[in-house]
Amino acid sequence: MKGLKKILGLTLAAMMTISLVGCSSSGDDGGDSKTADKLQQIKDAGVLKVGTSAEYSPYEFHKVVDGEDKIVGFDDFIVQEIAKDMGVKVEYTDMDFDGLLGALQADKVDIVLAGMTPDETRKKSVDFSEIYYTNSNVCIVAKGKEDSIKSSEDLKNLKVGVQKGTTQADYVTSDKEGCLGISDATQLKKIPDLMLELQNGKIDVIVTGKAVAEINVKNYKNVAIGNTTIGDEVAETAAAAIKKSDDKVDNTAFLKSVNDTIAKLDKDGKIDEYMQQALELAK
Ligand code: ARG
Repeated sequence: MKGLKKILGLTLAAMMTISLVGCSSSGDDGGDSKTADKLQQIKDAGVLKVGTSAEYSPYEFHKVVDGEDKIVGFDDFIVQEIAKDMGVKVEYTDMDFDGLLGALQADKVDIVLAGMTPDETRKKSVDFSEIYYTNSNVCIVAKGKEDSIKSSEDLKNLKVGVQKGTTQADYVTSDKEGCLGISDATQLKKIPDLMLELQNGKIDVIVTGKAVAEINVKNYKNVAIGNTTIGDEVAETAAAAIKKSDDKVDNTAFLKSVNDTIAKLDKDGKIDEYMQQALELAK
């Protein structure tokens, strides 16, 4: 019995050694266990696949340029520079805002630029660049109703509309501390759909970013911006989202490249310039 156990033990040990050797050799010959560099993959492809939701003027919106429908806006100016610095072209996938991070996780896009706020919940599933723009949230109301909202609390007595899956929706509907807990707020997928509901009187107010509100009150009749900021003054921040690194793909150099471009644009005063240009384009 003793002898048999010993033989079995030796056989087991030998098998383990073989399997360990097998493991390391497949790593050495450049097999699947090697981590790929995302930045290099993008450079090799020659294309940066960008996910966005182009109904958030002036951040991103559709415009016919030289007879061709294009996605333009503030984020487009920035992502064109990000791509240029990597030596590649931009290719957009336009989708609903609440589908963007799913598309990023599923590798349908390499990066998301959509005026997206790097909040704590999102940070658990994806990485964000440095914040490239900071704005506040305000209300869009019917003209003449600018004073109907003196503080965020007043929203509780009104029919509120927000874009689905956004930080504004979270702030208005969630019952977390510091949020308003308005559970019956209207949540629609696109800002233009909310604007129609406001004009039809189905909702009293839309909570959205200040730059977005400013351009929409220019482009739609009979609407105005309410006379108060909603929530934190600096709540409406924007950053680029990329996938977190895993054992297959390393995104460190990619994220650094994105951040380097943002830092350069910021230093050169380009960010504010781009916002001004986007506001002009959106008129
Ligand atoms: N900043 C808000 C958020 O991250 C709203 C962004 C909406 N962007 C868009 N392209 N529709 O939730």
